[in-house]
Amino acid sequence: MKVLVIGGGGREHAVCSKLKESPLVTQLLCAPGNAGIAQIARCVPEVKATDVQAIVELARKEQVDFVCVTPDDPLALGCVDALEAAGIPAFGPDARAAQMEASKIFSKNLMKKYGIPTAKSEIFDEMEAALAYLDTQQAPIVVKADGLALGKGVTVASTIEEARRAVVDMMQGGRFGKSGARVLIEECMVGREVTVLCFCDGKTLVPMPASQDHKRAYDGDRGPNTGGMGAFAPSPLYTPQLAARTEREILLPTLRAMQAEGLVFKGVLYVGLMLTDEGPKVVEYNARFGDPETQAVLPLLKSDLMEILIAVREQRLGRMQIRWSDQAAACVVLASGGYPGPYESGRAITGLEEAQAAGAVVYHAGTKRGPDGFVTAGGRVLGVTALGGTLSEAVRRAYEAAGKIHFEGMHMRSDIGSRDLERTPS
Ligand code: AMP
Ligand code: GLY
Repeated sequence: MKVLVIGGGGREHAVCSKLKESPLVTQLLCAPGNAGIAQIARCVPEVKATDVQAIVELARKEQVDFVCVTPDDPLALGCVDALEAAGIPAFGPDARAAQMEASKIFSKNLMKKYGIPTAKSEIFDEMEAALAYLDTQQAPIVVKADGLALGKGVTVASTIEEARRAVVDMMQGGRFGKSGARVLIEECMVGREVTVLCFCDGKTLVPMPASQDHKRAYDGDRGPNTGGMGAFAPSPLYTPQLAARTEREILLPTLRAMQAEGLVFKGVLYVGLMLTDEGPKVVEYNARFGDPETQAVLPLLKSDLMEILIAVREQRLGRMQIRWSDQAAACVVLASGGYPGPYESGRAITGLEEAQAAGAVVYHAGTKRGPDGFVTAGGRVLGVTALGGTLSEAVRRAYEAAGKIHFEGMHMRSDIGSRDLERTPS
């Protein structure tokens, strides 16, 4: 099969690497791709992941047999609908089902209607009403823009003043355009966060090993929020008991709720959980693989990813056995100095081969080919993933390999997974 993957980050590099292992995949294309992906697939940098029409044209022109639409934007823009309408099989939810991520109000209403545990919240489409409501509340409190906002549409405010500023920013400042036209103000949940990615074909939902990511820039979960500084799987917090409870109280009810609403969700459903004293609650749904969780989860997949993608599209997931390694995986992100603020690009990267020789897989997120090798070209530059018999071993190996890589200003967290190293799933 000739397969096209849409997207160009570390997550897409992990997806392409797995697809490359499949005997079904004879040719692999990626749009736009990146310099790392270009080592294993033919990249089409001029086709952007948000340009649905260009993606359909590319798929037609190249006569691809299957498209995997990985990022949130094209899914919300109806990329899968457009490809399927053109007769091109595609993996990912259609635009309606992608609202699970694209509208936080849509998914919040769904959770409320079907009794799925989540933070209590109120919805506002007028700034004055939102501000008046805040005056009756106590901090900490969470303000969210309704739509996609590059992962930056959420403010966990530690004072009411901060929450007011967030509301004004979102609703008046126009910082998020249409995404901020409506906001949610919700209760601040306390607990640890776990990500459960699930393959879902609209009939059956199959959870992958649970993972955890590290959103803050600096050690000890301090500093600004980022796209993710590292991840590991399986999560030691997600015990078999908790998995059973989550399946019963959240995953299956979510599947049934989507069905009752006539959403045929085919793709990856990302369930972000907060493990509160009252039990697991949903922080958010995404309609896609997580980044960087995927860089820690997919390396553990033993089954053929291409077979799974096809089975999801054809709604045959219920008849599939998906096998996972019993190892652990850790991914350490190497970022440009200054990220998530302003940073410099074009720095020469050294040590990639040494890191691979140390047993790690290096996923590229923001790199380019310079005249003398790879150079930095983004905030998050690389994700270094290693496996191990235990989480500590995986972490140790990932850091050992990451230590071989260098570029000027390179920043990584030194505590990926460390808070949970001592725990073992029981
Ligand atoms: P989201 O974009 O919905 O993933 O939110 C980003 C991050 O904000 C989450 O990963 C949580 O750390 C935090 N967050 C979102 N909603 C809440 C909430 N209701 N209570 C506490 N933290 C939250
Ligand atoms: N790691 C968070 C996300 O993919 O949204």
